[in-house]
Amino acid sequence: MQGTEKKAFDTAWVREQFPSLKLQVNGHTAAFLDGPAGTQVPKQVMDAVQNYFVNANANTCGAFATSRRNDAIIASARGAMADFFNCDSNEVVFGQNMTTITFALARAIGRELQAGDEIVVTTLDHDANVAPWRALEEKGVVIRQVDIREADCTLDLEDLRRKITAKTKLVAVGYASNMVGTINPVGEITKLAHAAGALMFIDAVHYAPHGLIDVKALDCDFLACSPYKFFGPHMGTLYGKREHLERFKPYKVRPATDVSPECWETGTQVQELIAGIAASVDYIAELGRHCDSTAKGRREALQAAYRATHQYETGLLTRLIEGLQTIPGMRIFGITDAKRFDERCSTLSFRLGDHNPTKIATFLGERGIFTWDGNFYALNLSERLGVEQHGGVLRVGLVHYNTTEEVDRLLAALREFVSR
Ligand SMILES: Cc1ncc(COP(=O)(O)O)c(C=O)c1O
Repeated sequence: MQGTEKKAFDTAWVREQFPSLKLQVNGHTAAFLDGPAGTQVPKQVMDAVQNYFVNANANTCGAFATSRRNDAIIASARGAMADFFNCDSNEVVFGQNMTTITFALARAIGRELQAGDEIVVTTLDHDANVAPWRALEEKGVVIRQVDIREADCTLDLEDLRRKITAKTKLVAVGYASNMVGTINPVGEITKLAHAAGALMFIDAVHYAPHGLIDVKALDCDFLACSPYKFFGPHMGTLYGKREHLERFKPYKVRPATDVSPECWETGTQVQELIAGIAASVDYIAELGRHCDSTAKGRREALQAAYRATHQYETGLLTRLIEGLQTIPGMRIFGITDAKRFDERCSTLSFRLGDHNPTKIATFLGERGIFTWDGNFYALNLSERLGVEQHGGVLRVGLVHYNTTEEVDRLLAALREFVSR
């Protein structure tokens, strides 16, 4: 065992990788609790983008050095995302962001749908996993929306079972809620979708920085996520089962290849950022090896990273919830029972009395604490919880580079806010 022991979570090492965590605001070190809207980026990602521009800045498939290097960078990024998803490289599609990818996929799938066919969406989801499917209503597709259980902001699985019928062609569910942190039983839901003969699309954008994705184990048909939420650049990625990527026909220009997955990547890609995607996956793997030196291959190292970050983030979440519950007027949305923390991730939303969330976010922002206010495009949920017309909620997102000191700073600032 010598030299191979599992180490405690090394926050100092983690924070050293992220140059922006040293930013100062009004004399305070910035506390980035805004991760659900986009995480900070380690220097490995910045270096990869710079390297692209210096050594590989060309379009694809040319007969010269920089173009060949660009092709190699894209191939290696596909390989990195294949390890991230646990799929084959040719099942990985790159795109501008999850929203754009999902609209394009919905349009392609919609070509095969008839009036009266049904798609199931949920009240818990970000609108990027609702609106692209609702757009198919124009051709007579019927959208059925699954409700939540308001008390703990979990999906109403009975309602979901009722809404999946013989007419269902696709079920679109988020892996984790970007507002209240609920993790949905997407493996179980995939089985229900498949039993009805429907496809399963998972929006894993919010889950990706918190938990290991395994599309083989889930057996889902499509899964989308965005590297800028897991320490990478502003882009989107899609996993699609090879048979589906080959069968469905994306809208594309005629000279572009018909070969999958490239045929799904409309126009020239942001290749410098694709270079950054590979580096973000490699950063997470490096973190895994730092936490567990026995982790060897990249997938194994990713598993080790998520094991360690899950445990660390759960500790932060526990401290945050316990602290928030002592603040008068606090209303936390979603699961607060520590025994159920495996059903949620470390993203949390609350309202504080009648205070407008923007005012709280501004107060915190002046003290160098970055949080988000509003609905974060989880519009159905904000409406369902009755907060939409009152400025939504205040959201705190904890990821593995956040610290107990930052949680304590937040709690102290909130106490100061209510006692003014
Ligand atoms: C859960 C969830 N789904 C989808 C999206 C949209 O992702 P993108 O910005 O890549 O289009 C977001 C963005 O916040 C999100 O949190």
